[in-house]
Amino acid sequence: MHTAVIGTQWGDEGKGKIADYLARRHSTIVRYQGGNNAGHTVVKDGVKFPLHLLPSGILYPDKTCVIGDGVVINPLVLATELKSLTRRVDSTAKLLISPKAHLIMPWHVVRDGISGGQLGTTGRGIGPTYSDATARLGIRVGDLSKPRQAKLLIKHQATWNRHLINAHLKYHRLKPDSQFKKNLTPALDPDLVWRDYSKAWRYLLKSGASLTNVTQFLISEQQAGRRILFEGAQATLLDITHGDYPYVTSSHPTLGGLYIGTGFRPRRLHALGVVKAYATRVGAGPFPTELSDSVADRLRQAGHEFGTTTGRPRRCGWLDLVALKYAVQVNGLDSLAVTKLDVLSGFDTLKLATAYRLGSRRHTAYPALSDHKHRLKPVYHTIKGWTQDITGVRTLKALPQAATTYLNYLQKYLGIPIKLVGVGPDRSQIITR
Ligand code: IMP
Repeated sequence: MHTAVIGTQWGDEGKGKIADYLARRHSTIVRYQGGNNAGHTVVKDGVKFPLHLLPSGILYPDKTCVIGDGVVINPLVLATELKSLTRRVDSTAKLLISPKAHLIMPWHVVRDGISGGQLGTTGRGIGPTYSDATARLGIRVGDLSKPRQAKLLIKHQATWNRHLINAHLKYHRLKPDSQFKKNLTPALDPDLVWRDYSKAWRYLLKSGASLTNVTQFLISEQQAGRRILFEGAQATLLDITHGDYPYVTSSHPTLGGLYIGTGFRPRRLHALGVVKAYATRVGAGPFPTELSDSVADRLRQAGHEFGTTTGRPRRCGWLDLVALKYAVQVNGLDSLAVTKLDVLSGFDTLKLATAYRLGSRRHTAYPALSDHKHRLKPVYHTIKGWTQDITGVRTLKALPQAATTYLNYLQKYLGIPIKLVGVGPDRSQIITR
């Protein structure tokens, strides 16, 4: 049976830790969407490894990691990430990269900087790269191994992007400062771009990464009876189609993204949703259970809720069961992993949203359009908290009664079992059932 790890909220649920934990029982670990907008920290023997683009299984030398067709890749970032990892560990997993994956080019980062501000994007060029892919203007990883073609594509795109960026600035009446101009010059210089990208690519190849037909590879893994772990990045409510549009990322973090992002149909798949024991969001967009009081500060501090990719403080709030139910349905989830339960220790009471009010009407389903979501008032179910430190607990039985009540309520409302519970950042701080 293969496994897909899917974010159920607005990202940062701790998918990386769960994927890292499950990687042990799988031969191959696959990223299928998103890019270096993702960020997670895998903790091994107390040492932190922040990852953005590399799949979580990269720390297991006996595994194969795949960057699939639906991922967008900045080769400079990938090379830097691999370099910093290989400096700190003796060996890493084998790395396979799809030639179909689109490249994040320097002009995508510039365009994201101009237009992504209102949405609070990560500024890594994700949206513009997916836009160009859909507009059939993209440059793909496979092009890097054909220098003449790649140089030509880069030249055309750099010229077109110069016009586009100038039009953007003019339309938005933006006056670029000297720093912006200084950054723009190398970003649009085709020779410099080719020099940097081909150098990063050569480094990746020299370090053992290889171009692979991902679909064929996964089919052969399945035929050989090997288990594959699909590691989703971002999360359901950030999905370009099913999330809080337009406050979303530009890929498909929902389960559907797996099929498009790999060209592979897993024969038997367990879809595991990862849910943080409370809710957070970065960037703009609706967040019905958001708090702005001392509870929010406490969650932020105790949960270290500051972005791995951008360092931004995350918005914090209570768990939203209505939104979670939607995630269970949209992905057809089989079970759940609850992370960061330990962060809730010490609260007198805990709240879970079970419905919303909009004017005089009560809603128990997550609305389709974002404009309504801004005005939703959550209806809460309140549960007594617990005071004990649970970071050392390794069995469900040993959890305080109030924590068990919290988990049982969640499980009953969502109608699927909780299989894993995270009680701390380390690999070992997981309760299984
Ligand atoms: P983009 O993916 O950089 O285009 O950003 C679009 C939206 O998705 C913004 O609100 C980001 O903060 C959010 N986002 C993107 N990646 C992540 C993630 O890994 N965790 C949480 N939020 C994310």
